[in-house]
Amino acid sequence: MRVLTGIQASGKLHIGNYFGAMKPMVQLQEEHELFTFIANYHSLTSSTDAETLRQYTLDAAVDYLSVGIDPEKTTFWVQSHVPQVLELYWILSKFTPMGLLERAHSYKDKVAKGIPASHALFSYPVLMAADILLYDVQKVPVGKDQIQHLEITRDIAVKFNNEYGELFVLPEAMVNEEVATIPGIDGQKMSKSYGNAINLFMESEKALQKRCNKIISSSTPLGEPLEWEGCHIYNLAALFLDEEGKKELQERYKSGKEGYGHFKKYLKELIWEELSEARERRAYYLEHMNKVEEILAEGAKKAGRIADAKMQKVREAVGLL
Ligand code: ADP
Ligand code: TRP
Repeated sequence: MRVLTGIQASGKLHIGNYFGAMKPMVQLQEEHELFTFIANYHSLTSSTDAETLRQYTLDAAVDYLSVGIDPEKTTFWVQSHVPQVLELYWILSKFTPMGLLERAHSYKDKVAKGIPASHALFSYPVLMAADILLYDVQKVPVGKDQIQHLEITRDIAVKFNNEYGELFVLPEAMVNEEVATIPGIDGQKMSKSYGNAINLFMESEKALQKRCNKIISSSTPLGEPLEWEGCHIYNLAALFLDEEGKKELQERYKSGKEGYGHFKKYLKELIWEELSEARERRAYYLEHMNKVEEILAEGAKKAGRIADAKMQKVREAVGLL
């Protein structure tokens, strides 16, 4: 089965992104034909300066390769390296009723947040439809906020297929209900915009410890049993533990022999250990950016071949010479 994911590159990644998006993606490549690209045309809708967009795009490539996107298994590229998608975007625009886009809530949400209301922002879902339909994709793993975009994609594909023949595969959203919302250091949803994130790649173990020390905990004095339920430190640590590990940690909370400081240290160790391989790979890629560029170029070549073949059929179907 062919599965496609699009990554919005928007700066430093955090533990919430890791468990909510990156780890599940890396697992997908073991079972499916995974296509993954960095959606830099999409990021352009909210980007204000060229250097930042360039840097975020490369950072995302390095970070995803570091956590385990394997270029031997996954086709991994930068969206703008396969510009055929923009031609399809235009053609699909003809099959996109205005009302369909006017109902899209992500556009309204973004404008409400202060992003300028441009045509690109408005037609964002059509480009996303092109991303998906260009590659004959069956499944698209998305968060709940993107489900409507998948519905729009299907509507566009059905309209096209009805008029010009069954050219496009109708994709389905793959919503992973199991992925919990990861809390930040204040217990709210971890998000870069809330200032409560623990970044995935901290500059040092000490900096990571300092960040973990900022996690809000109750003020039970040392020597008394602690509540693990509802404790933000416990909830974060539990992400890294199997059932047995969780039970052990619960016992440590109940014993009253340790304070929150110990558990913050333990959490730091869990995070540091989980990412040790990823850190090594990251150090390698940062030293060998040419290797990263090579991987992306190879991915774009592969995706481009599929895109060319598809576009030839699409042009022919609609009557473009
Ligand atoms: P942020 O809220 O920090 O801006 P993004 O919206 O860029 O994060 O999220 C990128 C991906 O990471 C999405 O797939 C999203 O579902 C996932 N993600 C982000 N924060 C969390 C979280 N706290 N818990 C689970 N998944 C998350
Ligand atoms: N809109 C997606 C997001 O904000 C990113 C994206 C762009 C995407 N094109 C896609 C996701 C195609 C899946 C398929 O996260």
